[in-house]
Amino acid sequence: MQRVLLCDDEVMNRKVAKKILTKEGYEVVEAENGEIALNYLKNEPFDLILMDLMMPVMDGYTATEIIKNDEKLATIPLIIISALSDREAIHQGLALGADEYLTKPFDLIEFKLRVKNALKMNHLQDQKSEKEILHIMAQMAEFRDNETSQHTLRVGEFSALLAKHYGWSDEEVELIRLAAPMHDIGKIGIPDAILLKPGKLSDEEFEKMKKHVTIGYHLLSHKQTPLLQLAAEIAYTHHEKFDGSGYPRGLKGDEIPISGAIVAIVDVFDALTSKRPYKEPFSMEKTLEILKDGREQHFHPELLDLFFEHLNEVIAIQHDYQDS
Ligand SMILES: [Fe+2]
Repeated sequence: MQRVLLCDDEVMNRKVAKKILTKEGYEVVEAENGEIALNYLKNEPFDLILMDLMMPVMDGYTATEIIKNDEKLATIPLIIISALSDREAIHQGLALGADEYLTKPFDLIEFKLRVKNALKMNHLQDQKSEKEILHIMAQMAEFRDNETSQHTLRVGEFSALLAKHYGWSDEEVELIRLAAPMHDIGKIGIPDAILLKPGKLSDEEFEKMKKHVTIGYHLLSHKQTPLLQLAAEIAYTHHEKFDGSGYPRGLKGDEIPISGAIVAIVDVFDALTSKRPYKEPFSMEKTLEILKDGREQHFHPELLDLFFEHLNEVIAIQHDYQDS
């Protein structure tokens, strides 16, 4: 639920605005002056600020100025609330960095639309920059050990395909398409001597290599957006095995999130069928045999069956995302 901070000293104004906003499905927190608003902002996340100008203790100009000069708070959309007649006050508020203004008394339709638009703009900007950053991070992780490969993109596409056939909603399918390519992001923290070693890793080296899942998890779990949450979950669980013999936690069966169980299958499939600096690609026949052997040991049986059922679509993706 999106959270709106409503800062106005007049109880009646807050009451009216809160009623409209609550009806529209927003969670509303009330503050009666700028100082109280700033206290809330320090401790709780908000998606929108509605700011009256004339208030005791700390007025809306001061509060707006502080908010818009604060690195963390400046990105929250802020709408000034002012009397229609007071043009100058509105200009001053906008000059301080307010994103929009609303005039009192509220016009119901205008009020709803301005709030909705401010939230939508912010959401779109957030999503866009989040996707771009994630894409760059995935490429960085991949670039070190595999400069030309489309591996991460294929893993995203394969994962989306499996999630769709498993019955996930369109929205969830899009999320995993973007999140799955991040599964090995934690390799950023693995030394070259291990990551790029051509031969088999020693036990000690393998223990260090395993850390890429926890490193990835920690990198991705800072900001709690649905996309990053899913990416963190996948990074953390894509090396778990159905029989509990995987890492890092040795999760078993249904303890493993479906997202991680999906990526476990498609990551292995893609690694086997791709050429790597240290190996030629395995034949499709051999690869499928290995996957089948892993049913219920390594792989979630139902998901593996789905993978085989839709193998023609898998092969089509492989064809569309070939390594250069
Ligand atoms: Fe991995």
